[in-house]
Amino acid sequence: MSTIFQRAHLLNPAENLDATGSIRIDGSGFIESVSLGSADMPHNDDDRVIDLDGKLLVPGLFDMHCHFREPGQEYKETLETGSSAAAAGGYTGVALMPNTRPVIDSPLGVAYIRHHSALLPVDLEVIGAMTVESRGETLAPFGKFRSYGVTAISDDGTAIQNTQIMRLAFEYASNFDLLIIQHCEDKTLTKGGVMNESHFSTILGLKGIPDVAEAIIVSRDLQLMRYLQQHKLHDPLNQPRYHVAHISTGAALDLVRQAKLDGLQVTCEVTPHHFTLSDEDLFLAEAKGNFIMKPPLGSAENMQALIDAIADGTIDAIATDHAPHAAHEKDCPPDQAAFGITGLETAVGLTLTELVSKNVITMQRAIEMLSVNPRKIMNLAPVHFRAGEMANMTIIDPEVEWTVTKDDMKSRSQNTPFIGRRLKGRAVGIYHKGALLENR
Ligand code: DOR
Repeated sequence: MSTIFQRAHLLNPAENLDATGSIRIDGSGFIESVSLGSADMPHNDDDRVIDLDGKLLVPGLFDMHCHFREPGQEYKETLETGSSAAAAGGYTGVALMPNTRPVIDSPLGVAYIRHHSALLPVDLEVIGAMTVESRGETLAPFGKFRSYGVTAISDDGTAIQNTQIMRLAFEYASNFDLLIIQHCEDKTLTKGGVMNESHFSTILGLKGIPDVAEAIIVSRDLQLMRYLQQHKLHDPLNQPRYHVAHISTGAALDLVRQAKLDGLQVTCEVTPHHFTLSDEDLFLAEAKGNFIMKPPLGSAENMQALIDAIADGTIDAIATDHAPHAAHEKDCPPDQAAFGITGLETAVGLTLTELVSKNVITMQRAIEMLSVNPRKIMNLAPVHFRAGEMANMTIIDPEVEWTVTKDDMKSRSQNTPFIGRRLKGRAVGIYHKGALLENR
């Protein structure tokens, strides 16, 4: 039995495809044929024919920044519940940050996740820790990570504060062609902080996080990259590659913009919450716990700088930083709330509503930022719509209007500030690993 997606809007920026067409997939999940035009595909009686009536069929979305909490904090999320949330949000693959308990700082942790994710509906890529227990003191075994198929390393949740250790991380990572994903935060400035330092933090009496804490780390790291490159101190075959996670300030964006012009291998991602919310939203919110995260929601000026950088192409990818926490860790005074919010199930809706509908970017660019670029940055194979390839695709209805509700969430945690938000556009299904999963 084959599955036929008929009369779809096929949009795959990885191969410049933007046309009406149909895709036939065999019983094992491989693409048999792709045909352009709106004519019905010939089919047999036992084939499953799904008429998409102009809905988008795009390469499976990939989120390069997620926290699934297993092992160690399964009360927040597990590999299974996180995968269900990813599938419901339209993702066919995600990359998991290593700040679990214990931290994924050795191949053992990688093997654990591989073993427990084989039968899940989405691909789980593992990001290895940069330092042992992410303490920023001793480098993790990068070479072993590489031999286990890991392509990126990060101490997300914190940043290496010691510049000498960071220099060694750059050199060592380039030996194994590993991408460094940096959570850019100068901890000496942010210690004890709860929200963006501004008149809102003063009025609320909450300790502020100065936004310059981000640019200070980005600047240090880019200086290190320039130095290593000038003096040819990295592996001659591999330039260091550096990716700024959840970028949130105009100052950091200016540094990235310049570094790109200078030819450094630098990329960055933005989260939907940082391009849709500011510290004023936290100020106005009744329940503030779900507006607390790192980096914090910034000033309106920084939010506008993010939107401008999405529009001008400085920002390469949209990532969710899906960070589930239990109700008791968020439903509390803001200075006691855990940092982080969930994001997998709202990212497509927010991107389409706030960026595509408002003409900040085209739909094609949105799919690049949600699917093509994250895979490219992480050195993963591109997804093609061609005969012989494994079918890996997301179905998006760009017209459907819907309201975010807690009851619909598949994640084990519902710590999102977007409950009640009206959105236009939604992922309505994925086809991956030989199975169609429809979102309702
Ligand atoms: O808000 C955040 N929460 N930011 C991070 O970088 C880490 C994440 C978490 O793990 O909860």
